[in-house]
Amino acid sequence: MDEKVLMLAAMAAREHAHCKYSGFAVGAALLTDDGQIYTGCNVENASYSLGCCAERTAIFKAVSDGKREFSAIAICGAPKGDEPDAPCIPCGACLQVMAEFCGDDFPIVLSDGVHVLKEFLPVRFTL
Ligand code: THU
Repeated sequence: MDEKVLMLAAMAAREHAHCKYSGFAVGAALLTDDGQIYTGCNVENASYSLGCCAERTAIFKAVSDGKREFSAIAICGAPKGDEPDAPCIPCGACLQVMAEFCGDDFPIVLSDGVHVLKEFLPVRFTL
């Protein structure tokens, strides 16, 4: 899978962001090991803390569809209406959720290139 294709899927998902409170639109596209793409956007709520990030939306969609093995995720984010040029680094909560299913070298595609999970989450919580 071409990382540019994955990023294009993330950008398309970003168009669906429900971000009327922050004004910050995020899209994510998660590639499964069997070649499917699950997309997600951030979904905010009038009760602010109930919102969900784009990455977790995509991961939860995939897991609830029976997928557990992931090959990469692409993420883009910027104020709604702006081009997502600057890299949108996933938040700590989303990194921990990625870590539930993915190893240290899981590729994270951002606007500036391909990173790996351990760059942003060098250690993870485990029980
Ligand atoms: N957001 C994401 O979707 N992903 C992240 O990794 C960080 C932040 C969303 C949450 C909220 O809707 C908006 O961006 C501003 O924080």
